[in-house]
Amino acid sequence: MKTEDERYIARTYKRQPIALVRGDGAKVWDFEGKEYIDCFAGLAVLNVGHSHPKVVRAITVQAEKIMHTSNVYYILPQIELAKLLHDISGGYRSFFCNSGAEANEAAIKLVRKYTKKSEIICAKNSFHGRTITTLSATGQEKYKKDFGPMSREFKHVEYGNIRELESAITDDTAAVMLEPIQGEGGVVVPPEGYLEDVRRLCDETRTLFVLDEVQTGFCRTGAMFAWQLFGVEPDIFTVAKALGGGFPIGAMLAKPGIMDTFRAGDHASTFGGAHLACTAAKAALEVMLEEDLAKRAGELGGYLKERLETLKEKHSIIKEIRGHGLMVGMEMDIPCSDIVDLARKRGLLINCTHDTVVRFLPPLVIEKYQLDRALEILDEVLDEAGIDCI
Ligand SMILES: Cc1ncc(COP(=O)(O)O)c(C=O)c1O
Repeated sequence: MKTEDERYIARTYKRQPIALVRGDGAKVWDFEGKEYIDCFAGLAVLNVGHSHPKVVRAITVQAEKIMHTSNVYYILPQIELAKLLHDISGGYRSFFCNSGAEANEAAIKLVRKYTKKSEIICAKNSFHGRTITTLSATGQEKYKKDFGPMSREFKHVEYGNIRELESAITDDTAAVMLEPIQGEGGVVVPPEGYLEDVRRLCDETRTLFVLDEVQTGFCRTGAMFAWQLFGVEPDIFTVAKALGGGFPIGAMLAKPGIMDTFRAGDHASTFGGAHLACTAAKAALEVMLEEDLAKRAGELGGYLKERLETLKEKHSIIKEIRGHGLMVGMEMDIPCSDIVDLARKRGLLINCTHDTVVRFLPPLVIEKYQLDRALEILDEVLDEAGIDCI
């Protein structure tokens, strides 16, 4: 598997040595039939679980009718999805694309056209994508090394430091762009009141406030969007990952008065908002609403954090537990890739981000008994690693 993968595919991924071939809710199986509890959800994508029957049915029915026509024609599933997003967000208008990076690219273009300014302030330790512009927005040097020059119109300030942001905003600033919780940066939750202060500062300086909800969106943090959890309304926000229930789709959502700056021809995507993707997304959103996954993520997330705090008392290499809903990070004293390997061997999929943070991003439909089993495995793994228990 490894040899063929490396022979035919660009070697841009450091793969774990398994191939998953089937999934159901929070369970997945590899090609040898081994079962795993999935606490990674394809990197915060499978919020409704693997192969949710309603998403599968919607895609199947749509695929038999028509899959793609381009945005040259009206796309009925796109209108239905945009209406649903409008209703659950309280009035935002959508531009559809295929990924998180593309959604952020669209936001950056809109911000520049609307404000007629180019400078955007982002946070250190942030992640906004891998295209050159979104890499420029990203506040982590390790992703940019070897790919310069970056776009120069991005400034980076310390996440959570409102004074630093205040002094960074100038007459040339078009927007502030942040993640409501930094995901790839190691599940970093902003200090209380920070996002509200950013909103106030943006209002005072007539600067646009953009939130990147690519990882936090769609019930992950205990609210449909994390900005609802923190009680702040951005001017623009971007989504992708969980929107399609496993099917690729992204969107940039803006208040209509801002979105209307975009005119025909200003931005486009061949595949953006096509029939299959929008049908999948509408079905996934309906599942999130019907199954009240925001509430479920809030409740199960609280339980997970409590149980991890108990593990922290036992295992001294756990430094801190943080997060909201089912987006939880466990900061370790040591690099955590070995813990991920040991857990996988015992049937648990977790992820290590920012070198030392074990990240839990399970499907929001995960059952409590599955979470309990995941925690049992984690406890065994920390013991097995012989890692100094108190
Ligand atoms: C906050 C955030 N923004 C943007 C992206 C990029 O999304 P994509 O990989 O779909 O381009 C990611 C991906 O992890 C992300 O976490």
